[in-house]
Amino acid sequence: MKAWQVTQLGEPLDVLALNEVPDPEPGPGQVLVRVRAAAANFPDLLMCRGLYQVRPELPFTPGIELCGEIVALGDGVTRFGVGDRVIGGPVQPTGGFGELAVMRAEAIWPAPAGLDDAEAAAFFVTYQTGWFGLHRRAQLKAGETLLVHAAAGGVGSGAVQLGKAAGARVIGVVGGQRKAEAARALGADVVIDRREQDFVEVVKEVTGGRGADVVYDPVGGEAYARSTKCIAFEGRILIVGFASGQIPTATLNHALIKNYSIVGLHWNLYATRDPQSLRDAHAQLSALVADGLIRPLVSERLPLADVAGGLARLGDGDVIGRLVFVP
Ligand SMILES: NC(=O)c1ccc[n+]([C@@H]2O[C@H](COP(=O)([O-])OP(=O)(O)OC[C@H]3O[C@@H](n4cnc5c(N)ncnc54)[C@H](OP(=O)(O)O)[C@@H]3O)[C@@H](O)[C@H]2O)c1
Repeated sequence: MKAWQVTQLGEPLDVLALNEVPDPEPGPGQVLVRVRAAAANFPDLLMCRGLYQVRPELPFTPGIELCGEIVALGDGVTRFGVGDRVIGGPVQPTGGFGELAVMRAEAIWPAPAGLDDAEAAAFFVTYQTGWFGLHRRAQLKAGETLLVHAAAGGVGSGAVQLGKAAGARVIGVVGGQRKAEAARALGADVVIDRREQDFVEVVKEVTGGRGADVVYDPVGGEAYARSTKCIAFEGRILIVGFASGQIPTATLNHALIKNYSIVGLHWNLYATRDPQSLRDAHAQLSALVADGLIRPLVSERLPLADVAGGLARLGDGDVIGRLVFVP
């Protein structure tokens, strides 16, 4: 089969190669899928660079989420059958950016019927992360104000939709006019172009000085630091990621003085600590899809040959929603 491989660490355009590799085989408790679509995520880029918390042995195939069709079952797999359309994360060294991938049967879910292959591929990480972040960690309540950084990006676009579905008032911060239009189309009540406006001032203005109850921050750096200036009394700042490349330092005396919480989120930990909670989240999220309240924003569907260039564009902050590769 054909698969992209990282053979040394670095920038995607320098270190990724599309190679002919042996077809993988499923072990006990695993399934083999033919990849129908795989979404590009920031962690794919960070893994290429060797800067992610997960560091697979070289060579490996990136692509942390996919929609695939089961073509073979390993020993002991009874939950799924050949031909099922499923979503989830593949088992390294296979990945979504290849024609075939291996997945753990315990860690795959039926693809929601209302989503096509590309949308289903972009449904797993984004919405699971948003669900655990907003509901389990930040305890977002209806009527609260949610501030989402990178609101037209991958996890950000999902957080905007989930915030609206939960009855929150959503403020989206984006870089540029194209992304501002996308955030409005996603349902954000207020959209701030960070290149044109100071989001702290706007958040204070539209909340009557109170600030945001929950901040969803996949960016870090200044986005985090400035969020502490417009977080509400008893607000929660969710630490989702550091797409800016800067890991900020928290000033704890400031958190004490203003009574806000800094809440860490590592969604994938729930896969081992509380696997049932992922199944419950999948059921709730699938119901939201069926009700028309959430839908992955897939801005581009590209051939497998475009993976290296697509990941480079993600690193440049050039992508709206998700890029999805369709082999
Ligand atoms: N905690 C978890 O469990 C979890 C799970 C999944 C993902 N994540 C993290 O969430 C973050 C976002 O992932 P994603 O795949 O959804 O990416 P993404 O949001 O689609 O892309 C990153 C966005 O960050 C913004 N940005 C601001 N400064 C940037 C810079 N210097 N370089 C690049 N982008 C910059 C850009 O949006 P604007 O221009 O609009 O600001 C860009 O579109 C990553 O750090 C990822 O590791 C965490």
